[in-house]
Amino acid sequence: MKEKNIMEYETVALDEEQRAIAIIDQTLLPGRTEIIYLRTAKEIWEAIYLLKVRGAPAIGVAAAFGIYLLAEGIDTQDYNVFREEFVKQKEYLNSSRPTAVNLSWALERMEKVCRENEEYPVAQIKERLKVEAIAIKEEDIWVCKMLGEYGLSLVNPGDGILTHCNAGQLATSKYGTATAPIYLGQEKGYQFRVFADETRPLLQGARLTAYELSASGVDVTLICDNMSAAVMRNGWIDAVFVGCDRVAANGDTANKIGTSVVAAVAKRYRVPFYVCAPTSTIDMNTPTGEEIHIEQRPAEEVTQMWYKERMAPEGIKVYNPAFDVTDHDLISAIVTEYGIARAPFTQSLQEIFERKAKMNG
Ligand code: MRU
Repeated sequence: MKEKNIMEYETVALDEEQRAIAIIDQTLLPGRTEIIYLRTAKEIWEAIYLLKVRGAPAIGVAAAFGIYLLAEGIDTQDYNVFREEFVKQKEYLNSSRPTAVNLSWALERMEKVCRENEEYPVAQIKERLKVEAIAIKEEDIWVCKMLGEYGLSLVNPGDGILTHCNAGQLATSKYGTATAPIYLGQEKGYQFRVFADETRPLLQGARLTAYELSASGVDVTLICDNMSAAVMRNGWIDAVFVGCDRVAANGDTANKIGTSVVAAVAKRYRVPFYVCAPTSTIDMNTPTGEEIHIEQRPAEEVTQMWYKERMAPEGIKVYNPAFDVTDHDLISAIVTEYGIARAPFTQSLQEIFERKAKMNG
C-alpha cells in the first residue's frame, strides 16, 4: 500500500467515535507518523506542553476540542456545577504553555459559549460547545488561506524565501501561516526557493518545515540557525516569512527563539521581513513586547535531547527561552486574514480589527 503523504493527515481532529482528540505526535516526525488519541485533561495538557501538538493556531484548536470533550464528560444537569468544573478544566489547560495567545483566546471563546447559554439545559450547552470548537478549526483553515493570498502579493515567482521554526500546516489546521503563500505560489507555478532554519533546540525547522515542504514538492534547503546571514549576504533571499505566537498592539512579535536574530540580519541586508499573523494571535490587550510572557523550557532540550550523547557538561547553567520578541521596527509588514498592516502598527493593527468587526457585522 502506498504510504500516506504527511500533508494528507489532519494536524488536529475531533474523533467523536473515540471521544478523543486525534493528533499527529509531532515529536516523532519525520521518522514516524503516529496518530495519538487524547482523552483526559492530563493527556491534553501534556501533549501541548511536550509539543506533540504545537504551533499557535494548532494549540488553539486542540484546546477548543479538549475543553469540549472535558465538558462533555461533566456529569451534571446543574448549570452552576457544570460551569464551575468547566472553568477549572479551562484554567488547567490554559496553564500548559504561556506564550501563544491562541491557547487562551480559544478557551475564552469556548467559555463565552458557556456564559451566553446559561438559560439552556447543560446538554444543549455541550452541543453548542462542539459547534464552536469545530468553527474555530474551520476558521483557522479560512484564515490560513487568506494569509496565503495576501502573503503571495508580497513576493514574485522564483523568489528565495527564508522561514524560521515551523509555521506550516503542522502548526495549523491546513496550509500553515508563513507557509501559506509558499503553498499557494507552488500551486500557481511560482517555483520559490525556500530556506528553512533548523531552529534549535527543538529542530522544528529541520524535523517539520523541511519535511512538510519537501513532501509537497517545494524546493527547500535546510540551513542551520547561524547561516541566515550567509544566505542573505549571498543574495539568495528576497523575503522572510515567519509565524508568531503573540503580537502586541504596537507590532512587537513573540515567535520561536531566534526569530529576532533573523529579523535583525534581514534589516542589515535589506530583505523584507514579514510576520504572518492570524488576528487570533494579535493581542491588543498586550501593549508591547515587554509584557509578553516568554516560556522557559527545561535545560535538557539544549544539552542532550536531540543528541545521541549528551553534548554539554553535567550541571552546566542553561538559559532556554522558547521564544523571543522581534521589535516592531524590524518588521516590514504583518500579514493578517483581513489585510496587510504596516508601520505604525499601533494604528494599522487597530484598523485591521475595525475591518474584521465590519466584515463580521
Ligand atoms: O514551540 P512551538 O513549536 O510551538 O513554536 C512554534 C512557533 O514559534 C511558530 O512560529 C508559531 O507558533 C506560529 S505557528 C503558525
